[in-house]
Amino acid sequence: MKKTIILFLALFAVSAIAVSSAEARSHIGDDGRSLVPGSPDESAKRLMHMREHLSTIQKVVAALALEDFSGASRITKKGFGHGHGIGIKADIEAFSEMEHVFEESTGKLAKTLKTNDMKKSLAALEDVLLICESCHDAFKFQ
Ligand code: HEC
Repeated sequence: MKKTIILFLALFAVSAIAVSSAEARSHIGDDGRSLVPGSPDESAKRLMHMREHLSTIQKVVAALALEDFSGASRITKKGFGHGHGIGIKADIEAFSEMEHVFEESTGKLAKTLKTNDMKKSLAALEDVLLICESCHDAFKFQ
């Protein structure tokens, strides 16, 4: 999984450098992150959705602390919905790619939790969090 993430991030960096037209630049925010287009209403809903993701991660950690692996797996599946994705559709290829990598990581987490192996579960959880972090470093809602 780490290899996939690193490969993806490398590709993302290369494509970000390749994007240099004036039009493309207008989609880059003040802090250098790419803007995900959307109305204020849409952006507010997306942020609310994101806060739910943080809450899901908190519940997964709480279940893990109790060694409730099946509960943690259930919460992961429920929190990240069908296909365990981020649930935000945006018309930006790199963002969709990031969503896809995220979806894979949460699917893997849900499966790994079922092994009842704490070390592997924490590693899978870390992979998920790494993608949360990478996406936040790269994107911003308009
Ligand atoms: C595919 C991209 C992507 C992924 C993956 C992602 N986020 Fe986000 N998230 C965003 C963007 C974009 C924002 C808005 C950042 C901004 O505008 O500064 C955001 C904002 C947030 C916020 C702030 C909400 C607010 O009200 O200000 C939280 C909390 C958050 N995300 C949690 C998470 C957690 C937890 C995960 C992983 C489980 C995650 N996100 C995964 C893209 C993503």
